[in-house]
Amino acid sequence: MLVIITESYETLSAKAAQIVANHLSKKPDLVLGLATGNTPLGLYRELIRLHKEEGLDFSRATTFNLDEYLGLSSTHPQSFHCYIHRNFLNHVNVDPKNVHVPDGSIRQDFEQYCEQYEQSIRNAGGIDLQILGIGKTGHIGFNEPTSSLASRTRIKTLAELTLQENQKAFGPNGKVPPCGITMGIGTILDAKKILLLASGNSKADAVAKAIEGPITSTITASALQMHADVTVVLEEAAASSLAYKAYYQRVLEMTVRLTPERVE
Ligand code: PGA
Repeated sequence: MLVIITESYETLSAKAAQIVANHLSKKPDLVLGLATGNTPLGLYRELIRLHKEEGLDFSRATTFNLDEYLGLSSTHPQSFHCYIHRNFLNHVNVDPKNVHVPDGSIRQDFEQYCEQYEQSIRNAGGIDLQILGIGKTGHIGFNEPTSSLASRTRIKTLAELTLQENQKAFGPNGKVPPCGITMGIGTILDAKKILLLASGNSKADAVAKAIEGPITSTITASALQMHADVTVVLEEAAASSLAYKAYYQRVLEMTVRLTPERVE
């Protein structure tokens, strides 16, 4: 893993956007895996700026969202479908026919639907670059603790802590759906490159366990240790529990010197 520690949320967002933009410039038909939540908002703002001010072109890109709430239609304001359009897709030129978000309104044939989502990823040639946040539970996507590390897209029951965290977005009277549709850990590990972002002190424990702890289904992000091309961009507060910070800095300096394309 390449661990990049940045001084602020703004620098984290700018670095992440630079990585996405470089991949898109090298491969205009990039297949991009998209995450929701608070963490990637700055990244999406910066990508929108790059599109509007510097002509970053998404016209040939394809996107796949990681997850969606089961039980919310695409028009529900708290759906990830709405989120990704509101915060990103409505402001760039991704062709709507190349946009994929799991359909939270399905009521039956879940396995068949999830297999179709997997098939559409395969049909697109696989995900080139997957953006991820990390939950306080150590989850990536909605892969809650004890998820199979070989899991594929499926329905997952949300952990209590995730329900509490996500309640903020639904307001005091809203009810967070109990389940999500999520790419599995196996699906995520098939992406060619992974970009994991975390900011804030509240993520420090999960980040340290994911990067430096044992690989375990109780911190599903730790499965990323098995992937050969993961870049982790952290705001300092989210890096505060890491034991090997000084080493990561030296690795970064060497990587910049020897294989700069890996940092871009
Ligand atoms: P957050 O969510 O970016 O809103 O912290 C991350 C997650 O739960 O995966």
